[in-house]
Amino acid sequence: MSEETVRGTEVIIHFDGRRCIHSRHCVLDRPDVFVPNVNGAWVHPEHITPAEVLELAHNCPSGAIQCEGMDGSALESAPQVNTVRLRENGPLAFRAPLTIDGSPQGFRLTLCRCGASTCKPFCDNSHGAAGFTASGEAATVESPPLTERAGPLAIELITDGPLHVTGNLEIVTGTGRTVDRATECWLCRCGQSKNKPFCDGSHRTAGFRSNFGAE
Ligand code: SF4
Ligand code: FES
Repeated sequence: MSEETVRGTEVIIHFDGRRCIHSRHCVLDRPDVFVPNVNGAWVHPEHITPAEVLELAHNCPSGAIQCEGMDGSALESAPQVNTVRLRENGPLAFRAPLTIDGSPQGFRLTLCRCGASTCKPFCDNSHGAAGFTASGEAATVESPPLTERAGPLAIELITDGPLHVTGNLEIVTGTGRTVDRATECWLCRCGQSKNKPFCDGSHRTAGFRSNFGAE
């Protein structure tokens, strides 16, 4: 999986192919900056301004695209509301100041929730071939507004089990409806829960192995 850093005139772009879920916002929005199917250099940060690259980064759900100023200054800031969006038949898309098992991950991340990724905990688009079905419109759970809506969000990878998430989090459907608000939750990543997006213990009977892949 490719990982590269390319310096332009105003910005530096980092690309992590291990995270990319091929949603293709980058190549469709800025085909002059991200040029697919070419031999040699395919990322051209010399064509983009800091404001433009920030917009591009915000549209990259996986966090495969990261950016910084030429002096190493951060361009992206933490969102005002931490969210995880349920992608229809696809991964969990987080926006928050994220860590996984204590390791900083930036502000955007798409994590496998079908159990089939060979790149766990990241989504690698295996859900399509696996025929995974999961609504992006889960039922609403009654929940009071959070006292704080931002702040650090810690994801703990439970071996052969769910994602244990601590921190302020709003769980949101693809259409923007809030499913639940939590400061701690366990999200299914085996694909077998009858109560998605939450873990219901089905990973045990399903024999889910979270180390199948490259975790
Ligand atoms: S996940 Fe990010 S880098 Fe990958 S195709 Fe989508 S926008 Fe581009
Ligand atoms: S991780 Fe899927 S039911 Fe627990």
